[in-house]
Amino acid sequence: MKFFKQTINTVPLQGQTVLLRADYNVPLKKDGSIDDDFRIRASLPTVKKLLADGCKVVIISHLGRPEGRYPKLSLEPIAQRLAEYLGESVRFVDQTIGDKVKMAIKRAPKRSVIVLENLRYYPEEEANDSHFAQKLAENTGARYFVQDGFGVVHRAHASTAAITDYLPGVAGLLLEREYTTITKAMKAPKRPLVAVMGGAKVSDKIDVITEFISVADTIIIGGAMANTFLAYKGYAMGKSKFDTDENATLDQIYAAARDKVGADNVDKFIILPTDLAIGHSLDSHEQRINKAADQLAADDIALDIGDKSIEKVVEIAAGAETVVWNGTLGYAEVPNFAHGSARLALALATNPGITSIIGGGDTADFVLNWDARKGDSFTHVSTGGGASLELMAGEKLPGIESLLDAR
Ligand code: 3PG
Repeated sequence: MKFFKQTINTVPLQGQTVLLRADYNVPLKKDGSIDDDFRIRASLPTVKKLLADGCKVVIISHLGRPEGRYPKLSLEPIAQRLAEYLGESVRFVDQTIGDKVKMAIKRAPKRSVIVLENLRYYPEEEANDSHFAQKLAENTGARYFVQDGFGVVHRAHASTAAITDYLPGVAGLLLEREYTTITKAMKAPKRPLVAVMGGAKVSDKIDVITEFISVADTIIIGGAMANTFLAYKGYAMGKSKFDTDENATLDQIYAAARDKVGADNVDKFIILPTDLAIGHSLDSHEQRINKAADQLAADDIALDIGDKSIEKVVEIAAGAETVVWNGTLGYAEVPNFAHGSARLALALATNPGITSIIGGGDTADFVLNWDARKGDSFTHVSTGGGASLELMAGEKLPGIESLLDAR
């Protein structure tokens, strides 16, 4: 599938200064250190390619949602981690626009990396402010803007949208890979295509579920989302987490499913758990008790899909050619309730013939922790949370649309 935008492979970048937008919005530990550097590692192919082309690479990113200059959200530790991965020095500038930035970039040699301070220290970033974007372009003296922060392209911010009014924008290698892999799975998948949806809220994923009703061959529902589906069908869910205000949405989902596969086949198309693993608290040592989905007591909390449902999910996944997985199947922070997610991860990792696409956010965090090969056991682990959901739902993403069209 040919990518519809220009990329760093299609424009002449040799020896140029480029402004690279990465998504280094990484999870941090309580002490402020980096908890997981997947997004930094995912940016390396683009940074290395630009260095190989002799570019001066000026990197910008946001981190967190600071209101003003909040030192714990400085990009300095990220610049250090990037330097460790590149095996060469990375200059860090504690400003994002202004004279200090201009001077640092001017002084830096060709074929070097400079990381600027957190974009969101400036409210103009999220306001998609033209003047701020113009300063970013002019102060850095860049010839091209390279968008490689896939995780943030669903936002229309100064560094994803307005910036392309001042610099010609092209895609980096990560953005191109994310876009083409996810789009191919949605538009021209190897079939059967199985969608596995979990996580908490149906309302967060309604557009993706609707899209999967039209493109997937089977949809598996797990996690707290399954509780909402089961409650809608009349099951007593005890003290489990579920939404009570989604009935109209679920009416729509089931109507679309009936239109596609016929009323008799709906429950073979949208697969809900037939049993559940319950606990009575969210304690990390809570015991896992298996119960049929229609047997929950008033104080039971469904925290994972049950053992029979796990076997069924594994069987369906193993028979698929493509599996797109978005949302953990249970309360995966606690090992006793991570069985469903872990068994699905194992089924995908041990069947390399299956094209396995793991949506970002919590599901990516889970598989990256689970996988000794740091995500390499799967075809693609997305760096995008909201961005991957919006792309799967077929939406146009402002940070991609703003780039130069492929010739
Ligand atoms: C993400 O982590 O999903 C992206 O970096 C976007 O961050 P945001 O939700 O704070 O805009």
